[in-house]
Amino acid sequence: MLDFKVAKEDCIKCGLCAKLCPSGVIELADGYPLIPTEKEPGCLRCQHCLTICPSGAVSILGLDPQDSRPLNKVLLDPERFETFIKGRRTIRAYHNEDLEPALIQRLLDVAWHAPSAKNDRKITFTVIDKKEKLAEFRERVIADLARLAEAKRLPPGREVFGYFAQLWKQKKIDVIFRGAPHLLIASAPKTAVAPLPDCFIALSYFDLFAQSLGVGTLWCGLAKWMIDDILPETKEFLGIPGDHVIGYCMVFGRPSVKFARTAQRGSANVHIVG
Ligand SMILES: Cc1cc2nc3c(=O)[nH]c(=O)nc-3n(C[C@H](O)[C@H](O)[C@H](O)COP(=O)(O)O)c2cc1C
Repeated sequence: MLDFKVAKEDCIKCGLCAKLCPSGVIELADGYPLIPTEKEPGCLRCQHCLTICPSGAVSILGLDPQDSRPLNKVLLDPERFETFIKGRRTIRAYHNEDLEPALIQRLLDVAWHAPSAKNDRKITFTVIDKKEKLAEFRERVIADLARLAEAKRLPPGREVFGYFAQLWKQKKIDVIFRGAPHLLIASAPKTAVAPLPDCFIALSYFDLFAQSLGVGTLWCGLAKWMIDDILPETKEFLGIPGDHVIGYCMVFGRPSVKFARTAQRGSANVHIVG
């Protein structure tokens, strides 16, 4: 049940909702939009109809258009946004302090707005939200890695994790999590329309929005390899659903360093089709 409603007194009969509906389920009758019952299953629930309506006359899924944020002005200065994107850095030095729970929730709620294939939105964000919990998790995986290294049972190509375990045990150097207080894992059911791209895109949104709030991030390939290839049982320990594929892991927290300028990466590698 989509609960598609049109406030006729506000509808200006522009037809934009019908024109832009990605699955073409909206029809016009006397200029007013409607979704015939038999077409309801085709709706992607993307809310294009609610968000395009100039007069706020369309409601779907029980949502009030007045509860959306208006988009009636230029939101970002492109010059500053460009500097912001070019200035994003991977953070490998963190304050040993938790972010406020409301801030973590805000970051995740924004990441939840990322596009997903067919508006599938089946991602789960698994979060370690307390530094003590991450410290516990680190001790656990380091002990497991050290045991596997000792027994020469690390998978081929992953032997370096034995060295990481030693570095932590002997010198408290944390190569895997880089001393961050929090861990985020985006996963999605293997059967989702596009589980991996959906996870990557959501994490990218999280990454960029985090930096705008002074929160540092690191795409943590080492954690991903460790969980996927060496210690798959940690998936269950972390409560990641068994039918999920891990998209990627990210650590985050308040940076203890501040970068002064952007990197210089030159022109993009582009091939224009001739
Ligand atoms: C998919 C992916 C995995 C990464 N894994 C790690 C990692 O495990 N440890 C680490 O220190 N950096 C990791 N990085 C960070 C890259 O080294 C970093 O993005 C690159 O050096 C460019 O620096 P910048 O992100 O500051 O621009 C990863 C980055 C990506 C995109």
